[in-house]
Amino acid sequence: MWDDSLQAVGAEPASIGNDEFRARQARLFSQLRPNDLLIITAPHESTRSNDVHYPYRTSSEMMYLCGWEDPEAVFCAFNEEGVWKSLLFVQPKDLLKEIWEGRRPGVVGAVKDWPIDIAYPHDELEDNLSQLLVQCSRVFVKLGVDENIDSLVENEMKRNSRARQKFGTGPVSIVDPSFQINELRLRKSDGEIAIMRHSAKIASQAHIQAMANTKPGVGEWQLEGIIEGLFKYCRTSGIAYPCIIGSGDNATVLHYTVNDDTCDDGEVLLIDAGCEYKGYASDITRSWPVNGKFSDAQAEIYQIVLDSQLAAIDECRIGNSYDAPHIAARRVLAEGLIKLGVIKQGLDEALSADGELNTWYMHNTGHWLGLDVHDVGIYRPDGEARLLEEGMVLTVEPGLYFGAWRPDVDCPERYANIGIRIEDDVLVTKDGPDVLSSDCPKTIDNIESIVGTA
Ligand code: GLY
Ligand code: MN
Ligand code: MN
Repeated sequence: MWDDSLQAVGAEPASIGNDEFRARQARLFSQLRPNDLLIITAPHESTRSNDVHYPYRTSSEMMYLCGWEDPEAVFCAFNEEGVWKSLLFVQPKDLLKEIWEGRRPGVVGAVKDWPIDIAYPHDELEDNLSQLLVQCSRVFVKLGVDENIDSLVENEMKRNSRARQKFGTGPVSIVDPSFQINELRLRKSDGEIAIMRHSAKIASQAHIQAMANTKPGVGEWQLEGIIEGLFKYCRTSGIAYPCIIGSGDNATVLHYTVNDDTCDDGEVLLIDAGCEYKGYASDITRSWPVNGKFSDAQAEIYQIVLDSQLAAIDECRIGNSYDAPHIAARRVLAEGLIKLGVIKQGLDEALSADGELNTWYMHNTGHWLGLDVHDVGIYRPDGEARLLEEGMVLTVEPGLYFGAWRPDVDCPERYANIGIRIEDDVLVTKDGPDVLSSDCPKTIDNIESIVGTA
């Protein structure tokens, strides 16, 4: 049913291979000292209701360093006579459990097929980890993810304080490894970029299908069904975040996810939807008229947002500040609204901290994108906006939101309940910005030629 979309997405890229996982591990280990211990945690499975779990998604750190996706896993690394060893605690083979819940690689499979040197069953974690803790001086662990690990580390710290004084062994400090890992994750490899491009291509097709199926009377939930169905059809693990499918005034609620309203003639529909493919998120927003033709008022606002988005994308260049796209987007938005008479202030005042632009544009213009939709990486190291580097991926997503329902503002009647956001995923390259989501139409003509054609 969606074979044209599948064809447009193209061949699937390779998964991240063990060579790349090993290289990531090596880059991280090179920042540690020989008597450090690294522990990477993952959340426990979570119960939805009796005997039913939420779909399991391991931690992005676990995905990044070894690609192991099953629950009850803990990754560790320690240095043995100058050589770093990766160790994974995993669910052991268990025929009965495997008959009910699915096959398990077990310890043999983990060492054979994953970038892992040593594997132990999860129920041997306490004994083995305790031994490693006695021998280390700093423990790199992110607390607050796995309470069992937290208490194990805490107890070993306490228990070892006596040994430490007598023999000089035992951990003396706990360090969060996020800083080092996040810096690595911020710059994407060629393999990651291929996967992210594929993720964005699938999300683009989902938006195209939603556009084609939009007609007055269609339910937001029906479009959600099409989008999520296409994500699955294209072999993703599903949504990267709950779909935002808002028609009319719902489009002016930034993170509207109820998606249970009917799309009516004359309204603008805003859809923010992205999938997770091989662990990597796409994040695309498009806005279009439910009846297939932008009204003059809708087109006026749409064109301002599109111009501001293009100006912001053009700032996604090596050496530019992370703030540059935001500054460019805000300027074009403010100029446009001043021209339309919506903003009565001059440009500088409109752009100031309490200027009028904030009434209609109240969020940032983008965020890092990767294994997490709001991906990791410090935006302002030492208080200064980071400079963009080759291989970074960020979203560019300006918008204007005229919520006539808001009691705090005087919404111009002409633009009442128009909510427009346009969001693309942009890779910073030597040759300038590379829009990973460029398959997704965004000019007024292109959108109008698709809406309602299914
Ligand atoms: N989809 C959430 C965001 O755009 O940040
Ligand atoms: Mn976003
Ligand atoms: Mn989004």
